[in-house]
Amino acid sequence: MELLQGLQQRVSTPRLTEPGPDARQLEQIFQAALRAPDHARLRPWRFLTISGEARHALGDVFARAALEDQPDLAPEAIARFKGLPLRAPLLVALVCKVKEHPKVPDIEQQLSVAAAAQNILNAAYALGLGAMWRTGAVNYHPATARGLGLAEDEQLLGFIYMGTPGGSAKKLEPLEAKDYVMAWEG
Ligand SMILES: Cc1cc2nc3c(=O)[nH]c(=O)nc-3n(C[C@H](O)[C@H](O)[C@H](O)COP(=O)(O)O)c2cc1C
Repeated sequence: MELLQGLQQRVSTPRLTEPGPDARQLEQIFQAALRAPDHARLRPWRFLTISGEARHALGDVFARAALEDQPDLAPEAIARFKGLPLRAPLLVALVCKVKEHPKVPDIEQQLSVAAAAQNILNAAYALGLGAMWRTGAVNYHPATARGLGLAEDEQLLGFIYMGTPGGSAKKLEPLEAKDYVMAWEG
């Protein structure tokens, strides 16, 4: 796929089925992630792949986080939290490891990880895979970070759900660049 065409046509895919990406595809996807812009080359990212049975463990982490805030959560709601990671064969947890740097504030490091995430989405699309960046209700809950084993200086920026696209690709909403772009003339 031509790069520019892919960049202009990528869509998120909410419905994802087996098979997930294979090892070669993942290597290509992460090579793309590692080309994200990165002030002072801090490499502020860490990616966790979660597939197979580990998705159930992640579902338990989500449910525990939700229960910390709402101990009387209904059994159906608990089951829903447990089932969230099962919506794709593979998830990539996006972790920002913020480093102290005199010229690179936290926000720039988070933006680098977000740029890496976008490269992951684009690379998955170029490989014919489906993908979608999701956060959801308990993404920023400290119990989720704890459950994933994140360190104190690490932040979870979401999950990229990845797999084979289920159903047909959604129609792109036509957008006019001119509605969002203007020349600033001082
Ligand atoms: C940081 C971030 C978190 C997101 N979290 C969710 C989410 O939890 N649930 C959801 O439906 N969409 C979420 N989205 C939006 C989807 O990933 C997607 O961009 C949106 O559905 C638009 O589809 P498109 O990428 O095909 O334009 C999130 C996007 C970003 C950037």
